[in-house]
Amino acid sequence: MAVGIFDSGLGGLTVLDAVSKRLPDVDFVYFGDNEHAPYGVRNADDVYDLTTRAVERLWAEGCDLVILACNTASAAALRRMQESWIPHDKRVLGVFVPLIEALTERQWGDNTPPREVAVKHVALFATPATVASRAFQRELAFRAIGVDVEAQACGGVVDAIEDGDLILAEALVRSHVDALKRKMPEPQAAILGCTHYPLMEQVFQDALGEEVTVYSQANLVAESLADYLARHPHMKGPGELSKFLTTGDPARVSDRATQFLRRKITFDAA
Ligand code: DGL
Repeated sequence: MAVGIFDSGLGGLTVLDAVSKRLPDVDFVYFGDNEHAPYGVRNADDVYDLTTRAVERLWAEGCDLVILACNTASAAALRRMQESWIPHDKRVLGVFVPLIEALTERQWGDNTPPREVAVKHVALFATPATVASRAFQRELAFRAIGVDVEAQACGGVVDAIEDGDLILAEALVRSHVDALKRKMPEPQAAILGCTHYPLMEQVFQDALGEEVTVYSQANLVAESLADYLARHPHMKGPGELSKFLTTGDPARVSDRATQFLRRKITFDAA
């Protein structure tokens, strides 16, 4: 009964934490491609090659369902994977759709035409690759009309978090929020479109102001996964152990992960 969770590095641990609390009876195998992080500055072919390699590794662990807990991979690689690469007995799901459903107040599987929604001015904070893909705007346009999205590529934030330099990460977040506000002075909602950013959620909220609703993915993805598994119970694969795998240095990655989640996390070499 195992499900795979993939991220380029540590950011997906925010999703792992939420899904394992929501689904305590399911085993999760986490794969962090720390050796190749950050993905946010890579081109789409590179992100596709790295993501497909990691997903194959998670299938080999008995995880027939893999969640790409990485917006950059979801934005730059998932559509291509779903079109031509994923075998019929496996599934790979991304983290964009649950977020957009929450923003547009839609239910899962609601395929009615796009309609007007309450939120009109949305700030999107994401990696340079996610912003360049415009995948968020594409998915949003399937569901809502009349929403103005201003995207801010948050260069440097993922590197600072992966390096454990939270002071630098905070300074960068504040300067990216300032840059966004120069383009869109009064956003109603802000999307943290990178799984690393919930680690900085309070800083985003402070810099944006209390009146801005900040959407963070982890809990939304956990609810969507619970709903998906209730409807597709056979997609819990044959794996029987929760574990953490990394392409990076297991000791170093374990230290950082333990610091982020404030509980002991031990990574093994992938
Ligand atoms: N945390 C990932 C995301 O959600 C990737 C960040 C990166 O590797 O640049 O986009």
